[in-house]
Amino acid sequence: MEYIRTEIIEVNAKYPEPGVIERAARLLRNGEIVVFPTETVYGLGADAFQPAALERIFDAKGRPFSDPLIVHIADEHELELLTTKIPIEAKRLAREFWPGPLTLILPKGSRVPYLVTAGLETVAVRMPRHPVALALISASGSPIAAPSANRFMHISPTTAQHVYTDLSGKVPLILDSGPCEIGVESTVLDLCSDEPRILRPGGISLEALRTLLPDVQPPVQRNKVGEVEESVAKKAPGQLLTHYAPSVPLLLFDGTIEEMHTSMLAEIRRRYAKGEQVGVLIAEEDIPMFQDTHACVYSAGSENDLMQVAAHLFAGLRSLEEARVEVILCRNFGEQGLGLAIRDRLMKAAGDKFIT
Ligand code: TXA
Ligand code: MG
Repeated sequence: MEYIRTEIIEVNAKYPEPGVIERAARLLRNGEIVVFPTETVYGLGADAFQPAALERIFDAKGRPFSDPLIVHIADEHELELLTTKIPIEAKRLAREFWPGPLTLILPKGSRVPYLVTAGLETVAVRMPRHPVALALISASGSPIAAPSANRFMHISPTTAQHVYTDLSGKVPLILDSGPCEIGVESTVLDLCSDEPRILRPGGISLEALRTLLPDVQPPVQRNKVGEVEESVAKKAPGQLLTHYAPSVPLLLFDGTIEEMHTSMLAEIRRRYAKGEQVGVLIAEEDIPMFQDTHACVYSAGSENDLMQVAAHLFAGLRSLEEARVEVILCRNFGEQGLGLAIRDRLMKAAGDKFIT
């Protein structure tokens, strides 16, 4: 792949400078790719209707074409360009949760290139709520297809610096509006099956969806690599268990707080004795238990504030990676609210290295 000089431009997160937005929008209209912030994670965008531009996304990320992209819109009217039918539930969900971290799987309209959907007859659509994302989509005049702006298989980026680490030399422009507010990706909700099902837990919780859609199905539980039912694997391509793998192995600990502490401390001692550099990702409340160990400690926030934990999760994994630890030990944060999305990302990072 040819080397491209990567420019990072700061943009005001609340009141994006029109000049900067117009420059990025012009690149998109000309078939280039641009990195922009959303409320979940940074996205690597291209005009959803330009196949040559879409190819650049896959090139830059090293992502296989079998992994479909989410199309981002700024106005509900754009749905008509993307889908053949807007189910009544989609309208109700959009009214409640858009703009926001909810992606809906809908029947694909004929104008949507198969490069976007990985050959599927369905398309993923969301309206982000970040002012920069909304301004950019509007200015570009077209829906924007965008995966998370990380190298394929790496952790999603929540700062422009994370993006730069993964994609410098591969993208012309990164719009930098500081850290993303939510920090985990959108919830992907399938509305094309007999019953609505969450394919990927994310920024909108199962509990919140249930208030509107009482029969919504939770994501299929997986405890080990390869344990996803085949039918689900086909509906959620790209949801490989190791999708978010950090470049260092991760062990996820389960059980009560005391059990987790005991087994994490034992694991640190065992590895330290072998000369291994260990990192731990924990909650603020756990710090006293770990501060006198030889582990490199990252606290993601209070165990009683999962919004804080989600917002710091990926930055924590990246900072432990950069500290060159050889293994990351991570506690479990429960399954309530955002806990489900946090757990999903940690399980994907852990693969089958799961400790109960
Ligand atoms: O928060 C987010 O959703 C971020 C920001 C940038 O919007 N985007 C994001 O995109 O996480 P990506 O490409 O990393 O993940 C999109 C996932 C795919 O891996 C796939 O599992 C699912 O969405 N997806 C996309 N189209 C689909 C389809 N037609 N059917 C089922 N799943 C689909
Ligand atoms: Mg991704």
